[in-house]
Amino acid sequence: MKFFIDTANLNDIAEAQALGVLDGVTTNPSLMAKEGITGTDNIIAHYKKICDLVEGDVSAEVISTDFEGMVKEGEALAALHPQIVVKLPLIADGIKACKYFSDKGIRTNVTLVFSPGQALLAAKAGATYVSPFIGRLDDISTDGLNLISEIRLIYDNYGFQTQILAASVRHTMHIIDCAKLGSDVMTGPLSAIKGLLKHPLTDSGLAQFLADYQKGNK
Ligand code: G3P
Repeated sequence: MKFFIDTANLNDIAEAQALGVLDGVTTNPSLMAKEGITGTDNIIAHYKKICDLVEGDVSAEVISTDFEGMVKEGEALAALHPQIVVKLPLIADGIKACKYFSDKGIRTNVTLVFSPGQALLAAKAGATYVSPFIGRLDDISTDGLNLISEIRLIYDNYGFQTQILAASVRHTMHIIDCAKLGSDVMTGPLSAIKGLLKHPLTDSGLAQFLADYQKGNK
């Protein structure tokens, strides 16, 4: 299972990278705005900084909603760095653009996916990644994890190579549940990744080992 971090915060990205378990980064316009990164030039410079920090895939989202605009923006983003994956919204023009990029060998991440039918379309269009937003489904009393299971079943039925990238992951249990369900990738905040470290028996066991070592080595 690949671990992506879902942020544009360089400190969080660097901390996850230093942990040695990071496979990539996902961003979106809201995450960029949260870090105060505005204006095309600054956003592009920020993508380059992220690519310099990590070794894996870095999703960069287009803001156009028409096919021609998405193609123009996506080609410019893909040309920035070999690690860039063009992130496209799951709308008709986004699917057309996904097929266009897929035919050209440019990797894509189709985002804002909330149903198995949308995920099927993304796979048919040759998406590299599909991003079902599980947290936002949970927010409206709909089982986000069930969507991961449904997409897994559909993709396995036909051998689609599109990777399921569980997005809108909010906490540590989301990561564990996505891993059980066979999600190829998860993207979440640093706090959710670090939550995987935690167990009180690890802490108390380590404290005991160190105390016993001290006793024996006085
Ligand atoms: O990966 C998608 C993500 O950025 C959305 O997360 O927490 O805003 O639903 P959230």
